[in-house]
Amino acid sequence: MFTIKNEVNLHNETEALVIGIFNQNQRPQGLLAEIDEALNHELLTLIKEGDIGVKAKQISKIHTLGKLGAKRLFFVGLGKKKKLTEQDLKEAFGSLFKEIQKSKLTEVSVAIDTFLTDNLDTYDAAYALSEAWPLATYRFEGYKKKSNEPEKSLEHVTVYADGDEQEISAALTVGFVYGKATNSARTLVNLPGNMLTATDLANYAADLAKKYDFELEILEKEDMEKLGMGAFLAVNKGSVEPPKMIVLKYQGKETWSDVIGLVGKGITFDTGGYSLKPKDGIVGMKTDMAGAASVLGAMEIIGELKPEQNVVAVIPSTDNMISGEALKPDDVITSMSGKTIEVLNTDAEGRLALADAVTYAKHHGANYLVDVATLTGGVIVALGMHTTGAMANNEEWFEQVLEASMEAGEPIWRLPIFERDKERVRSSKIADLNNSPGREGHAIMGGAFIGEFAEDTPWVHLDIAGTSDTKSSHSLGPAGATGVMVRTLAILVERFEAE
Ligand code: BES
Ligand code: ZN
Ligand code: ZN
Repeated sequence: MFTIKNEVNLHNETEALVIGIFNQNQRPQGLLAEIDEALNHELLTLIKEGDIGVKAKQISKIHTLGKLGAKRLFFVGLGKKKKLTEQDLKEAFGSLFKEIQKSKLTEVSVAIDTFLTDNLDTYDAAYALSEAWPLATYRFEGYKKKSNEPEKSLEHVTVYADGDEQEISAALTVGFVYGKATNSARTLVNLPGNMLTATDLANYAADLAKKYDFELEILEKEDMEKLGMGAFLAVNKGSVEPPKMIVLKYQGKETWSDVIGLVGKGITFDTGGYSLKPKDGIVGMKTDMAGAASVLGAMEIIGELKPEQNVVAVIPSTDNMISGEALKPDDVITSMSGKTIEVLNTDAEGRLALADAVTYAKHHGANYLVDVATLTGGVIVALGMHTTGAMANNEEWFEQVLEASMEAGEPIWRLPIFERDKERVRSSKIADLNNSPGREGHAIMGGAFIGEFAEDTPWVHLDIAGTSDTKSSHSLGPAGATGVMVRTLAILVERFEAE
């Protein structure tokens, strides 16, 4: 997969040598000077005439015609050196890997030193490279009849890098694990509702548990009835598919304390129920388990890297369907917490499922909670498709989540929950709560509702309805599921410090 070599040797044979190129007016130095010489001192001319692009994410390919060991040179434009962030670098590598995939190369070499700045060292660059590779080249197989010929794909990257070999190797491994796990989440989200039922999701979690030695608990309908999970079970009432409450436990500390609870909405298809979605709004609702996928992706990273932390993952999974037995608007249900809920809208089902899941995470000892959910269309109206909505009941815990999201390059933005917002969620005349207080600020209403079940436990809610999939392909992946929040959650767990 990766080979590390300390020095670049321009005579080494390789399909392609990859070089970073900044937008600067200096004469080529170091390795670039050597390459310039091999190219009859034409490098600056090639740049000037636009054959080699220096703008960020521009990829240029030139054949060496036997002048170097490398058959081709791939130049990765990096823009202004002072401005380059780690995310920019990841995206630039993403564009590179997309080009390599198009060229059907199976092996390339990368001169890491040409990518470094005052702020980005060898290890940062190695990490960015290895995370970008799987992310950028991800494809969802789909169900088209295939031709027999398997497509060639990149198998090996030689990394020329100056530094501690073990540390470089660690950075490469960790980046690759993060990228791969994000792809696992993408695949779960891309699967249609008939291909990924709650039972399938539970089986997937069971496989993870087996592979990484997690403790596994799958609650069946009868178990949930005994526990009084009336909110989650209400969502499943119209379905022929059995509901599953999926629990994975990872213990990385001596004692089961300072436990992080990761709770993910696992609605495998959301019709809206009797508050039926319009025909345009229902298409795409196979992605309503993206929160669950983020949590499972993060658990994959945790299983691979084994941080010294305690984590419990809780995923309520079912589809939201219609039948003679389905939940109806006006119904009143009782959650596991004992709080009663007046159902005004059966399409606000995510918060019902999460209510019991949050209670159950606390039951399993979670001291810090994050829930991730494709919860509301309202968050898309508020923040668009590139920013995840966040709400919280605890400043320090929110700060940790925010920092993790910034490190992951997955922007989040906080919306408030004021007392008046809580009052609206509590405004039912006949029950403790109502699940849909109206259109105004409805992303906030969703978060505030879940917050009622977190109670005093530090809690952050992440609404990924806008960010969990994308209409167009981008440098770090194709159109479709993004796997958003996998990396944020994993970084959060890795860096977690109890207050
Ligand atoms: N799964 C949807 C939210 C959603 C909308 C996700 C668009 C992805 C894209 C959720 O269950 C839902 O239907 N929410 C309602 C809540 C409302 C009835 C209070 C919504 O946002 O309209
Ligand atoms: Zn819904
Ligand atoms: Zn939903």
